[in-house]
Amino acid sequence: MFWYFACAATIGWLLLVLGWLYSREKLPSLFLRPTLMDILDRLTNRQVIEDRLPELEAATYLDAESLSRALKQRIIGQDSVCTDIAAQIRRRLALSRRGKPVGIFLFAGPPGTGKTFLAKVLAQELDRELLHLDMAQFAAGSHSLSQLFGMSKGYVGSDSYGKLTGGLRDTPNAVVLLDEIEKAHPDVLKAFLTAWNDGFVTERSDGKIVSTTGAIFVLTSNAATERLGMLATQYAGDPESMRTAAVNTLREAQFAPEVLNRIDRIFVFRTLEGLDIARVSALEIEQMISSYGLEVAEQGIDPNIVLMLMVRHKKLGTVGSSRDLVRAIEEQLADSLIEARRKGFTRISLVQTESQGIVARAVRASPEVS
Ligand SMILES: Nc1ncnc2c1ncn2[C@@H]1O[C@H](COP(=O)(O)OP(=O)(O)OP(=O)(O)O)[C@@H](O)[C@H]1O
Ligand SMILES: [Mg+2]
Repeated sequence: MFWYFACAATIGWLLLVLGWLYSREKLPSLFLRPTLMDILDRLTNRQVIEDRLPELEAATYLDAESLSRALKQRIIGQDSVCTDIAAQIRRRLALSRRGKPVGIFLFAGPPGTGKTFLAKVLAQELDRELLHLDMAQFAAGSHSLSQLFGMSKGYVGSDSYGKLTGGLRDTPNAVVLLDEIEKAHPDVLKAFLTAWNDGFVTERSDGKIVSTTGAIFVLTSNAATERLGMLATQYAGDPESMRTAAVNTLREAQFAPEVLNRIDRIFVFRTLEGLDIARVSALEIEQMISSYGLEVAEQGIDPNIVLMLMVRHKKLGTVGSSRDLVRAIEEQLADSLIEARRKGFTRISLVQTESQGIVARAVRASPEVS
């Protein structure tokens, strides 16, 4: 009898203790602890990881302020675009809309104002691959579709992926730059609508699905250049009204309405003015010189050359781009640049002369050598 009561009392106590543990939600962790936590305790220092979890959380959120600052350092004269895109990207990365790309942005405005350049810089600053697709190359219907989305089975080339499908398969979070979107064939645009609405594209060679939800799509356009340039000035302090006016302008200019409807945000680039033209021209000259394996000496560009480019730019108005103007200079200089390189010089300066026009002069690397 005694043993009977003793057993009953022990079982009763046990049930009470278990009940109490259960009510405090301690029971599962007691049982799970050895399987879950032992791994971290055995292989690393769990406590350090737990303590630093909040830091990790903060690190995954993009700092819009520092992105905007980094963009402004490299993109001249487009401060409001830089601020806006940094804020948009931060918001959209935090939102992560299910089944849709991170963002579909349109960069519109006059030529040579930094649209393509900003897309490239953005990819670098976000530490993402850039998938640059020049849409003028996809102006033919079915051939362009095969180039982008792969060749159907049984055709020559059906063993390799398309440029878009292959690119996104390899780097799903790429910045996909669809440069000069209005030049693409309507069927190509239709295929992109599916990519944006469904959140995936289908590779035609093997029917596999490639996600587009990690990607940022940047479209650039030259449509309605003059009008958009004017809007950017007119609504400089009111970006919201500017965007509405820009959408209407693009619609009137026959910009594919289905694409326009699908765009998350439009960024209007303003026409460059004053010293900004000088800055971009000087940068363009520097890039042109470096493409010959040479560098510009300190203060190596004659200011008269930059002033001459500014005058030409002004005469051309919104259709003028520093890049085209610098190309004209390059025509005059190419031979002397090649010659300077051949002779082993690395640094040059550009001088405007009365008799020969613009000439390149080699600069010795350091005073000690001369
Ligand atoms: N706002 C800018 N800031 C810095 N560099 C610029 C800017 N605009 C143009 N550039 C320089 O000029 C080059 C050409 O600019 P970019 O290709 O971005 O022009 P775009 O607006 O795309 O013109 P298009 O409409 O003709 O394609 C860039 O590689 C860059 O070196
Ligand atoms: Mg461009």
